[in-house]
Amino acid sequence: MFAKTAALAAAVMVSAGVVSVGGAAGAMAQAANPCAPKAANPCAAKPMNPCAAKAANPCAAKAAGMPEMLRPKDTKLATGDHKQLVEQGEALFKDTKLSTNGMSCNSCHADLEAFQPTFAQPYPHQVAMANEQAGISSIALDEMIQLCMVVPMEAKPLKWDSKELAALTAHTGELQKQYRKQAAANPCAAKPANPCAAKAANPCAAKPANPCAAKKW
Ligand code: HEC
Repeated sequence: MFAKTAALAAAVMVSAGVVSVGGAAGAMAQAANPCAPKAANPCAAKPMNPCAAKAANPCAAKAAGMPEMLRPKDTKLATGDHKQLVEQGEALFKDTKLSTNGMSCNSCHADLEAFQPTFAQPYPHQVAMANEQAGISSIALDEMIQLCMVVPMEAKPLKWDSKELAALTAHTGELQKQYRKQAAANPCAAKPANPCAAKAANPCAAKPANPCAAKKW
């Protein structure tokens, strides 16, 4: 009886993902990202569209060895004139030099693409990619930018107190406002679980490159 209960509990833990969390922690314990420093990085094989091959989660393949993505306590976001920061951030958002694989933020996020409905929520909040990649259950906007710097952009995180991070945060904050407006205007957006909610023009279209396209309705 006891053994049966214990076996059941273990099975529940497996199905609840406890084991995979342990796996992620183990992977994080590796000294550094085994993919990142190598010149001939096998992960970088798809510079033009790293999202293309991965139906469920475009960035899911790069979990190993994530550096710390949460803001260190003794650091602060740089301050500055908001308008200037937004402008600088807009330029950086399109700058492929920020990545090591030819991508810019805009490669994925042009026209508010790739954002999921969580993006409309006030920060910090849960983001599926942060949860899956780094075991972070609640993430701030600047931390999310760092995560995209490291995972899809395959680059080093920006300095926590840098103007660049402040600028990208300011610009992305403006994008969040646009996203909210767009989501509010979109009848599909009312459903919080709808992964296609962000696409104003045609929320449910079967675009081949659309990460939502595989979803059966
Ligand atoms: C290869 C594609 C790709 C690139 C390049 C990329 N991202 Fe992302 N980003 C994603 C995906 C996919 C998500 C959605 C993750 C989720 O919701 O699980 C995302 C989510 C986000 C979010 C919102 C998360 C939320 O729901 O709150 C922000 C903010 C963000 N990215 C900023 C950036 C910035 C800034 C850059 C450039 C430094 C960047 N991204 C580069 C793919 C990318």
